[in-house]
Amino acid sequence: MKGIIEIDNLVRRFGDFTAVDKVSISIEKGQIFGILGPNGAGKTTTINMILGLLEPTSGSITVNGLNVSKHPNEVKQMTGLMTQETIVDSELTAAQNLEIAARLYHLSSDERESAIKEALKEAELTDFADAKAGSLSGGMKRRLYLVKTMIQKPDILILDEPTTGLDVQNRVQMWDHIRALQQRGITIVLTTQYLEEADQLCNRIAVIDHGKVVATGTPTELKRLVSSGRVMEVITSLEEAQKVADFLKKKFKLDIKVLGEKLECFLEKDPVDTFGKVLDGLVKAKMPIISISMHLPTMDDVFIKLTGSSMRDAVGTQVSDRSNIMLKR
Ligand SMILES: Nc1ncnc2c1ncn2[C@@H]1O[C@H](COP(=O)(O)OP(=O)(O)OP(=O)(O)O)[C@@H](O)[C@H]1O
Ligand SMILES: [Mg+2]
Repeated sequence: MKGIIEIDNLVRRFGDFTAVDKVSISIEKGQIFGILGPNGAGKTTTINMILGLLEPTSGSITVNGLNVSKHPNEVKQMTGLMTQETIVDSELTAAQNLEIAARLYHLSSDERESAIKEALKEAELTDFADAKAGSLSGGMKRRLYLVKTMIQKPDILILDEPTTGLDVQNRVQMWDHIRALQQRGITIVLTTQYLEEADQLCNRIAVIDHGKVVATGTPTELKRLVSSGRVMEVITSLEEAQKVADFLKKKFKLDIKVLGEKLECFLEKDPVDTFGKVLDGLVKAKMPIISISMHLPTMDDVFIKLTGSSMRDAVGTQVSDRSNIMLKR
């Protein structure tokens, strides 16, 4: 089946520089699709071409079966865009900002009134309808901007780094909002530099680096691409950590890393089987264990393996010293 957005062999050059290099992506209706990449990877350039705001050097894009170069106005009508920079008029009130957007889409007076009311409610800004946008907090401004970009009720929403610069609380609130939009049947394409955001929010992800797609898949597929292994984590106490580590090293020949009260190790072969044996061994030896768990490699590991470098906000270093699978760019 063809996706609601089909990007085929897309190239964009600026002079000699290739910002987007033979990108092909298929996005299915109803998905939250993430384009994950660091600064300068080509995310915004790609998005601008999806919306017909920038002409491709070569390649093609269809949105809902319409070729974007040939039908730019129809595509703009069915697609909302939240740009990286928040675009609201500081001097106008929240309601006035929405009013202007509604007029741009030629909504009738009645339609405008209900759309504005709904939008304010959705952004949890009903009580701030008459507050100047400039006086709102960063998170509130971003929410106002999001509902403004979808005042015409588009089928597709494109969000360019929707949470960059937001604090954790506002970020989580934005994620909930995006999930609620998906529940309403809206297809969402978002770009992000945050590995956790891609992992938590997106149904499918295209990882891009230097203008090229280096991998596409669900978060789990991407993690499994890196390795079939698992990370095992054992929590004990600070005092006992070394003792437990020595036991595991000796008995199971595992390469254990001691990180305070936490022990970590990568199980490369038959991870489930090994995990069972280790658990059994620890119980039989009456080792002082608080918890033991096993999980897939993190998105950070995925990124390191795919691109050879860590993302700017990378935090996990837990399993990056194992497994030599390196995918070609
Ligand atoms: N109009 C332009 N002229 C010349 N170079 C450009 C232009 N627009 C983008 N570029 C270059 O293309 C590359 C990709 O830029 P783009 O803005 O798409 O990256 P991005 O992934 O959105 O990055 P960020 O996370 O910083 O927003 C960058 O190296 C950028 O400098
Ligand atoms: Mg950008």
